[in-house]
Amino acid sequence: MYKNITGMKDIMPKEIIKWHFVENNIKKTFENYNYKEVRTPVLEFTALFKRGVGEDTDIVEKEMYTFNDRNGKSLSLRPEGTASTVRAYVQSKEYANTPLTKYYYIGEMYRHERPQKGRYRAFNQVGAEFFGASSPASDLEIIQMIDDLLKSIKLKDYTIFINSIGCGDCRPGHKQALIDFFTPYKEELCSDCQRRLNTNPMRIIDCKVESCKKIVENSPKMSEYYCNSCSTHNNTLLSLMKNTDIPYKVDEKIVRGLDYYVKTTFEVRVSGDILGSQNTIIGGGRYNHLVKELGGPSVEAIGFGIGMERVIMSLTEEVKEKPLDYVVIILGEKALAPSLKIVHDLRKENFSVDVDYRLGSLKSQMRWANKRNAQKVIIVGEQEIENKEYIEKDMLTSEQIKKPFN
Ligand code: HAM
Repeated sequence: MYKNITGMKDIMPKEIIKWHFVENNIKKTFENYNYKEVRTPVLEFTALFKRGVGEDTDIVEKEMYTFNDRNGKSLSLRPEGTASTVRAYVQSKEYANTPLTKYYYIGEMYRHERPQKGRYRAFNQVGAEFFGASSPASDLEIIQMIDDLLKSIKLKDYTIFINSIGCGDCRPGHKQALIDFFTPYKEELCSDCQRRLNTNPMRIIDCKVESCKKIVENSPKMSEYYCNSCSTHNNTLLSLMKNTDIPYKVDEKIVRGLDYYVKTTFEVRVSGDILGSQNTIIGGGRYNHLVKELGGPSVEAIGFGIGMERVIMSLTEEVKEKPLDYVVIILGEKALAPSLKIVHDLRKENFSVDVDYRLGSLKSQMRWANKRNAQKVIIVGEQEIENKEYIEKDMLTSEQIKKPFN
């Protein structure tokens, strides 16, 4: 028997109704904010992610599915959606048509991580990217959209954690302070953080290893190094947030695991045990230089990615399958052609209809209709053909009426 690849799950019909519920609310909410859907290929040139996500990130260093194609070109399955979306934005020259562009996408991403509850090697992300806006008001809009969405799917116990990780002007000062602070502890840091000390010491701040967490507690805070522009941006956003009813907290540990972020970064986490340590359902932030890095003009941007599996696992709202409108019960050969016409006519009228094509006894077809949760059953037997009328039974009230064939 063939089995799926470790960390890559099938989503079967029982589960998919929850996905449709969330996806429908995503589309509705995002369209309220004037976002347009884009679809990009799952395969891209590896160079895009090296440049876009960053060579020193865990994702590019050790998690990508990378291989050479038949022409010897290095390709990778997308580990996230921002780099591809920015590539498509730049390639289509959308920036030349309009100064503000809002895209969203929905699709499978691939990371060779250690699978566990809420962490997979193939997982679905919904992302939104807002190009062209640099003001804290656009940060607020993004956060409001997330909050509207989470409320629309009735998610409980979530908090939006907000931070600013500074910019190219103020981060070098903080970086040096971190190097000075962590160097004496080098031997006590985990092997990943020892490497991060040379590549990106800021990432030590969100290390999940207990011994590193302890050392991080007293490390220099980014907020002490903000330049004027970062300080004003962050203060304005936080004062705008105070005027909303959005559940948020400031968390200076949100440094994010991708290289493109500057200024505002945020994550949404759910409390409770459902997701264990993988309780971050959404991550995002501002990336003001990526469009230029990937060959476009200087366009500032902000966006986020939603981990769909994690959101689905956090749902508390019961999502019920839509019942079938009709089951048509066909009894005897003479009833076949007129019944099939009824089936097709109803479907053309947009009713959901099904038939137990094993065409067994009335009792077994009735049992089948019950199992399918049919609202109504139409019964056509030879007697009905002779009388030129069929029986329609309401399965809730058990009421039966006769209807003429036309
Ligand atoms: P990210 O934080 O790497 O950001 O991923 C966003 C979300 O995807 C996470 O918060 C998590 O819910 C989900 N996720 C990530 N890895 C896995 C996994 N292995 N299994 C299940 N779920 C996972 C990004 O990818 C950025 N592109 C987000 C963004 C968009 N920033 C700006 N625009």
